[in-house]
Amino acid sequence: MDKKIIIANWKAYLSLAESEELAKNILKFIKNKKDLPEMVFCPSFPCILPIAKVLKNTDKIKLGAQNMCWCEMGAYTGEVPANLLNEVGCDFVILGHSERRKHFHEKNLDIHYRVKAALEHGLTPIICVGETYEERRQGKRDEVVRKQTIESVGVLDLKPSQRVILAYEPVWVIGSGRAVEPEDAVHSHRVIKQALVDSYSQTEFNLYFQIIYGGSVDPQNLQGFIEHDIISGVLVGGASTKEDSFKGLIEVCIK
Ligand code: PGA
Repeated sequence: MDKKIIIANWKAYLSLAESEELAKNILKFIKNKKDLPEMVFCPSFPCILPIAKVLKNTDKIKLGAQNMCWCEMGAYTGEVPANLLNEVGCDFVILGHSERRKHFHEKNLDIHYRVKAALEHGLTPIICVGETYEERRQGKRDEVVRKQTIESVGVLDLKPSQRVILAYEPVWVIGSGRAVEPEDAVHSHRVIKQALVDSYSQTEFNLYFQIIYGGSVDPQNLQGFIEHDIISGVLVGGASTKEDSFKGLIEVCIK
């Protein structure tokens, strides 16, 4: 079985000093550990470069951004293009997080353009999809997740070194402290997988795509998710911003 991946989404929770301290402490913690999961830190933009310096002598933890623009370098005030993410050492980028969809009105097509730009610049996109509570209550969950997947991923001409990660994050569960049941997450992973197999093929799915779960993951519930083959890892907000719970997540993966 492939290594599971833990992607830490620090959102706008941590100051520069707090981000650096957390990164240093996690690095110290994993120093002599074996069988580690794949790990990615996603700090806020101004913290990426200082965290890249903390991680400069390790390949155990990679860096990701929490968003990016579809644009190239140029006259785009306030935006961050993929070239700059390359330059500061990012390998991953979170795209279409529900907080971006909700507060900043990002739509599936915007996200698709970003996904394309990310891949063109060698970044692995982590594309977030998930239904709101209201959509689930109305029985529209599968439909919403399928549509978000098909439209945000769109048509991509994928090459052997590329990889695309889909993160299933039921919106109302994010930051609530109460994750969905693992079987519930598995159901949506199957919906996402089917949407991708229908748009691409089973072979392309196996080659390029992975699906992970996000939404109130913590050291207590992590095992229940990652023991399913279809769940390749987790996208973690709150629990990845505190040293003790982050260490707890790592320990669950190396058990
Ligand atoms: P949470 O956030 O772990 O705090 O629920 C997850 C996310 O928003 O990616």
